[in-house]
Amino acid sequence: MALFKDMLGSDESLFKNEVALDYSFLPKLLPHRENQQRYIAASIRPLLMGKNGRNVFVFGAPGIGKTAAIRHVINELEDETEDVMPIYINCWQKNTTFKIIVDICEQLGYKLTHNKRTEELFDVIKTIANKKAVVFAFDEVDKLEEYDFLYSVLEEIYRKSVILITNYSDWFDDLDDRVKSRLMSETLEFRPYNLEETRDILKQRIEYAFVPGVWEKDAFELVVKKTAESGDMRAGLYLMREAANIAEDKSSRKITLQHAEEAMKKADKFTIKKSTDLTEDEQSILSIIKNNSEKKIGDLFAMYQEKGGKLVYKSFQRKIEKLEKNKFINVKKTSGGKDGNTTIVKYSTKTKKLTEF
Ligand SMILES: Nc1ncnc2c1ncn2[C@@H]1O[C@H](COP(=O)(O)OP(=O)(O)OP(=O)(O)O)[C@@H](O)[C@H]1O
Ligand SMILES: [Mg+2]
Repeated sequence: MALFKDMLGSDESLFKNEVALDYSFLPKLLPHRENQQRYIAASIRPLLMGKNGRNVFVFGAPGIGKTAAIRHVINELEDETEDVMPIYINCWQKNTTFKIIVDICEQLGYKLTHNKRTEELFDVIKTIANKKAVVFAFDEVDKLEEYDFLYSVLEEIYRKSVILITNYSDWFDDLDDRVKSRLMSETLEFRPYNLEETRDILKQRIEYAFVPGVWEKDAFELVVKKTAESGDMRAGLYLMREAANIAEDKSSRKITLQHAEEAMKKADKFTIKKSTDLTEDEQSILSIIKNNSEKKIGDLFAMYQEKGGKLVYKSFQRKIEKLEKNKFINVKKTSGGKDGNTTIVKYSTKTKKLTEF
């Protein structure tokens, strides 16, 4: 019997280059984002001609190529000139003025930041940056805890483009008027991809990541459909990797519809995390809030304990504060009323950071 003839050998893989499915992998081309890249490049171009650049406020849903597009523009800028220095900062990881100033210093090549005050460090930035021109890309700006650095950058760096990136179109409205009026930014919206665009993007990834011909058509189409529904390309990358792993576990030489369906079931059980996302404890608190929105914090704590949560009330409160800061939830303090002083916690439907599908 040819029992093993059609099976994947133990030294064989369906993956050609699995790294290409990482969320941080940057493909050479970004189909369907050409116009957005051109728009950002046009805002920067005056800097190459000795003039001042324009500022851009970029917004759009999670997983639709905002970060990828800006990284591409920066890479091309670096290939083109040394006269314009690009600074890219993820404001989730660097969410205070001090952290951002230190990061800018380091990206500008100044490493002696230890034990120095914010003002001293900003003076260093001014001296280096004002010899040339700078593109500042501040990604995920809605996660910032402080904005003073923005004011300083706008006021004291002369030739620059400031690109602000966020999921929320109304983030800009809440900015301090002094910052707003200095920004004078243009707005660039990234719209979600439709089914055909999603298919093109995932097809390109398949070529990077898989041995040719291993995906059965209906399996791939299911992944495309689910990804387009969720709107987040990360969902597609995740599903493709999972389906292929399931197929490999079964020593299958093809990724079939059944494998894709199984991958989807697995994805249903939890939410996809970004690397910078929440800890397990925070995830579990968030899921309690999601299922019991607009409840009092004390009641939520009781539910958390019932589910075996180990944190004491004070730490639980701190987690709630963190979730609020990161805009996963809204918190409303009420006083008087029938419940006396209490805190009502609401799941934020605006949050699409945890891609669910
Ligand atoms: N047009 C595209 N072509 C190829 N890959 C893409 C495209 N758009 C998005 N991707 C891929 O999808 C993933 C998510 O994209 P990206 O990180 O740019 O999302 P984002 O819009 O910045 O999301 P968030 O708001 O959550 O930060 C990345 O791996 C990215 O390379
Ligand atoms: Mg991003």
